[in-house]
Amino acid sequence: MNQDDLFKKVIAHAKEYGFIFPSSEIYDGLSAVYDYGQNGVELKKNLRDYWWKAMVQMHENIVGLDAAIFMHPTTWKASGHVDAFNDPLIDNKDSKKRYRADVLIEDYAEKQRQKAEKEIEKAKKRFGEDFDEALYRETNPRVKKYLDEASDTVKRMATSLDAGDLADVKSLIEEKGIACPISGSKNWTEVRQFNLMFGTQMGSVAEGASTLYLRPETAQGIFVNFLNVQKTGRMKIPFGIAQTGKAFRNEIVARQFIFRMREFEQMEMQYFVRPGEEMKWYEYWKEERMNWHRALGMDESYYRFHDHAKLAHYANAAADIEFNFPFGFKELEGIHSRTDFDLKAHEEHSGKKLQFFDPELGQNYVPYVIETSIGLDRLFLAVLSYAYREESLEDGSSRTVLRIPAPLAPVKAAILPLVKKAGLPEISREILNELRYDFNIQYDEKDAIGKRYRRHDAIGTPYCITVDHETKEDNCVTLRDRDSMTQERVPIQNLKAKLSESLSLSSLLKK
Ligand code: GAP
Repeated sequence: MNQDDLFKKVIAHAKEYGFIFPSSEIYDGLSAVYDYGQNGVELKKNLRDYWWKAMVQMHENIVGLDAAIFMHPTTWKASGHVDAFNDPLIDNKDSKKRYRADVLIEDYAEKQRQKAEKEIEKAKKRFGEDFDEALYRETNPRVKKYLDEASDTVKRMATSLDAGDLADVKSLIEEKGIACPISGSKNWTEVRQFNLMFGTQMGSVAEGASTLYLRPETAQGIFVNFLNVQKTGRMKIPFGIAQTGKAFRNEIVARQFIFRMREFEQMEMQYFVRPGEEMKWYEYWKEERMNWHRALGMDESYYRFHDHAKLAHYANAAADIEFNFPFGFKELEGIHSRTDFDLKAHEEHSGKKLQFFDPELGQNYVPYVIETSIGLDRLFLAVLSYAYREESLEDGSSRTVLRIPAPLAPVKAAILPLVKKAGLPEISREILNELRYDFNIQYDEKDAIGKRYRRHDAIGTPYCITVDHETKEDNCVTLRDRDSMTQERVPIQNLKAKLSESLSLSSLLKK
């Protein structure tokens, strides 16, 4: 299946099986806003729990927070978002389509890198085992030309954006001959800055109302509570504060389903460290976060690091963990070394000291911060698109299955009486009532057993428990495994222990 087809199928499947619906669909939807259905909400909650447990429960020095979405408007002046949270946008005059200028240029650079990779692949085939890839990358003129072109282009863009030189960003687009992907034309407008924050009013009448912003990141709720948490929790540096919650951005180019949304959920952790030690912790969290992703069991080749050429206004180092989505490698999570930018800015704007007295050093300082920030919706899309499989079976039939990691599956097991009579539904409900305290279990008696298996494969249910006539004699049920489709007889009294082994989040956390 090609990647375009896969993506279309994942979107259709997500809707058909109650994972994701377009927002307010009866009114034709709202661009880049989505609702999570009955199965989606469970998967999303499990992903959030996995993150929360790994970050908060598994670290003695990290605690949680749930700050409000509305914050004092000065927060966003201090954080730099009012002045600098902009995307450079450009319109194509022929197609009337709007683009992020930096994305057009990044896409161009990525194409150059892909050309280099193609050359390398060809050479690999030609030279076989003797092939020295590192040497070839450094010395082959054609490969070097493509790679230099990619990095020079991105560097120039970063310099121009940092200097606010939007005319040069446009010149770069023109010089590189970048065309509109829709119209193929190079008839561009000037590049302009566009602030991504949504504004709203607090107060009943226009005169007395003050302008607020819907938070574009959850991080600022953590910074403004730094001292509250540090003092009340008697936290010693290094320590972290973690938070999950909604964020809002008026994205210019909002496409690719739940990859780029206007309302989305972030899971962020700010780790407060001694000034001068930030690079050590930056490397530590890059590694930790990659390990967290790897524990999900998705193929390692689906992940890579991407170091930022253009740093956000608050960072002195930044890297993305990119995931191979159906539309290619894109940012899934960001790890940023934010220096003391935010706490210092809030000190200046609020007039309150946001410092830590370090007893070992015998001095006060504004801590430096390492941030890990992942979009829950993007993580959802990564897991869903990786899990989606269409499989041909030995008997000539086929099935669509979601191979979601078992502890994250929306429904953990389905209880299926073989028939709707002869006391089998009653036994099934007894099992349901026993297991539902520990797992999200569904009871399903409609349709033939094969059809019910398919239904549960399609939503990723790891186990089906079938109650048949023999159950009445031997007190055993048939346990069917989603992935291998193997079946085994299991005594009812052993079911809970058996399911716990593979369904509990601790199996992921221990990896
Ligand atoms: N506090 C830092 C921060 O917000 P970011 O790189 O702008 O950094 C962090 O965002 C993460 O939030 C991204 O890696 C991505 O997973 C997610 N994210 C950002 N914008 C998003 C959007 N429009 N839709 C969905 N997820 C988004």
